[in-house]
Formats: sequence, structure tokens, C-alpha cells
Amino acid sequence: MANLLIKNIEIVTMNEKNDIFVGDIYVEDDLINQIGENLPISHADKVINGKGRTIIPGFVQTHIHLCQTLFRGKADDLELLDWLKKKIWPLEAAHDEESIYYSALLGIGELIQSGTTTIVDMETVHHTDFAFQAIAASGIRALSGKVMMDKGNEVPKNLQENTIESIQKSVDLLEKWNMYDQGRIKYAFSPRFVVSCSEELLKEVSRLSNLYHVYVHTHASENRGEIEIVEYETGMRNVTYLDHLELANERLILAHCVWLDEEEKRIIKEKKVNISHCPGSNLKLASGIANVPNLLDQDISVSLGADGAPCNNNLDMFNEMRLAALIQKPFHGPTAMDAQTVFKMATIGGAKAVGMGNEIGSIEVGKKADLVILNLNDFHTYPMFDVNPISRIVYSATRADVETTIINGKVVMENRIMKTMNKEDVLEGANRSIKRLIKKMPNI
Ligand code: GUN
Ligand code: FE
Repeated sequence: MANLLIKNIEIVTMNEKNDIFVGDIYVEDDLINQIGENLPISHADKVINGKGRTIIPGFVQTHIHLCQTLFRGKADDLELLDWLKKKIWPLEAAHDEESIYYSALLGIGELIQSGTTTIVDMETVHHTDFAFQAIAASGIRALSGKVMMDKGNEVPKNLQENTIESIQKSVDLLEKWNMYDQGRIKYAFSPRFVVSCSEELLKEVSRLSNLYHVYVHTHASENRGEIEIVEYETGMRNVTYLDHLELANERLILAHCVWLDEEEKRIIKEKKVNISHCPGSNLKLASGIANVPNLLDQDISVSLGADGAPCNNNLDMFNEMRLAALIQKPFHGPTAMDAQTVFKMATIGGAKAVGMGNEIGSIEVGKKADLVILNLNDFHTYPMFDVNPISRIVYSATRADVETTIINGKVVMENRIMKTMNKEDVLEGANRSIKRLIKKMPNI
């Protein structure tokens, strides 16, 4: 048994009462065992002095593509369908085992360093086992799955899948990785988007996700060109079509949902579908601005994600929180998307979206110890006197203020030193890998 005591720290709990106070946190193995002032703990394997620091629940990002981290800076200033066809699909097609591994580690390093402790990740068609190996080694909490794509135009040959094969490969990965490390890793079926998937594939994903009780993670209604294709091919809009195939339920995560009609919103609300809002990606790909205040008014589950490195170009929750708040204010007024609302989406909201509202997303006894220690003692976060800590975190803090990250009771970064990966090796491996992929495709 390993235990950890964090002493004298400002605790932003995000519990029901939104309590914030200075106290101690005692962690036993993976769980928060006690919280209180001056806990009478005489011995701990490790003690962190939290004086002058702030501790928050680790961020939950509900839409990430670790396999795309290597493509950062390789696909700027394009709109979604061109971005996919001209850059992202050919690059994904060029991936090999080592490049997938380093792409994942590079992304996870950035996520851990910026305070994200749980992700919902979509991989590419091949080599997904190597992404799971990186996730396993890094200590991050993740729902992940291989992307499924058995349909579509201008898809590189290497990414074109046969329906049965796509399903079989997904199930094989599920059987190997779902519930790994006592559930730190979970499998999520990941059909790319309606444009890339046959009806037969989506129906089978619906059946299998019910059978195995796992999540389905896909993109929907991100871009107007995408919606035109879906309407032309199915006669329906994305969410209506997914519902028609019995995919709309509380285990579905839809990335984006920028362009929803009233019927789609009704389905999302009634069937308790989860939306992953990705403001950085939506702006950079010129997709649009999702009407998040309207969705939240209807009690729809909206959490946050950075999407992939080539459409953002960071995986930093501080960026996403700031954007999520600021982009709505010109339309909905200054009180829309206040700091508390946005911070909730980034923590407990994300936890609920992945079905783990009782396990992560807040600092409470009995929950998993997914904790992030911030040092808010700097020019850009001062003065602190009488300022709400959540305002400081959402509107002023940056990822550089993350000092220590703990996932599942394990310290994965301490005083900005990575504990589960060798940073130099990851940076070097990432560069070497992208160089090898680019060599295969001189026209990119
Ligand atoms: N739609 C289909 N594939 C993708 C992808 O890789 N990224 C984004 N943002 N949207 C998609
Ligand atoms: Fe995406």
C-alpha cells in the first residue's frame, strides 16, 4: 500500500457545495482517504508541503486524438474536409508502430504537464495497440479506441477498412485493453464520423456497445460541408441519423455539435447524449461557434476537449476554458459562461460525461486521487487578496502554473519533472518519427 499526504493546501473541491478551504488531503493507494484541517496522520510514504499552493481536480478532456500529436503544425489554416483529405488522412495512413507510440506519449506529456488527468481519445485505423501501451505506461486515465472508417471518398487506401475487419479489430482491442489497470483504461468504440461509416458498421457498434457496456465516441455536426454530405446520403442530419441507428444514449460522446437543429437538440437532451465542446478546434478549422449557453440552459451534458494537435495546436485545458468562456460573451452577454460554469465543465462535467461522476471530477473522500497542484504565486495571477480562486484559474492561470500532477494516486509529474516518461526520449522519438513519415510522403 502506498500513501501520500498533501498538507496545508488550498483545496478547490468542486463538491456539491463548491467548498474551497485550506487543509490536508490523505491518499491511500488510488483513493482519497481523508480530507480535513490538520489531519492526524503520523506517517505517510510521501508528504507534499502544499503551503501557498492550490489543488484542483484533474481536468477531464472528452475529445482528443493522441495519434495526431505528431502532426502539430503540419496542417494549419484549412477547413475540416480539406484538412482531413489533404493532410490528416495521408499522415495517419503513414503511421507505423513507433510513430503511434511517440505521438501518444508526446500528447500525454503535454496533457499531464497542463493538468489533464483523464482523456477520451480517438486513435487511427492501425497500430492502436501501441497507443494503449503508451497510455498504460504513462499513467493517464483514458477511454480510447481505434478509429473505424469503412466508407468515404478520397480516403488513402491504407485507411480504407472492410466493415467486418474494422469491427473485429475493435473487439480484439477492447478485449485486450478494456478495464486495464482496474479500469484506468477503458475501451470506447470510435467510428470516425457518419461520412466515414456505413450504416451496417454503425448498427453493429450500437449493438456491441450495449453488449460490452462501453462508450461510443464520434464526431458530429462540426462543419456545414460535412452536414450536407450526411443529409444527401441519409436524408437526415447527424444526430437524427445516429438516433435512428440506436446510438443516442448516455454512453455516446459527440465531439463538436456546432450546428444542431431543434430536433437534434431534443434527441440529445432526451437521450442524455454527451457533447464535447472544442472551441479551439472549432475556431481554427473555421467550423463555427457552438451555442453552448443554450445547450447548458437545457441541462445538456457539455464538457471540453482540445481535439487533436493539428487543429488547435495545443492540448491545453487552460486554453480551452478561456476560449469557451470568451467566445460566447459577445453573443450572450458578459455573464454567460462565467468562470464557475466553465471550470465545472472542465472537471466534474467531464467526469459525468464519461460515466465517472462518482469516481473522479471533484476532490472528495472515496474518489480517485486525480489531483493537480497549481502555483498561482506569480505576476499574472496576482493579486490574490479577495479574488475567487476559480476566477484566477480560468481567467488568469496558464499551464505553466501546473506544478505537480497525480493520477490514480500516483505522482506522474512532480515540480514539473515527468515521472513516467523520459522527456528527452519522447521529444527525440517524436521528431524521429515524424521525419520518417514525411519521408514517405514528400508532397505533404
Ligand atoms: N471529423 C472526422 N475526423 C476528424 C478529425 O480527425 N478531427 C476533427 N476535428 N474532426 C473530424
Ligand atoms: Fe476530432
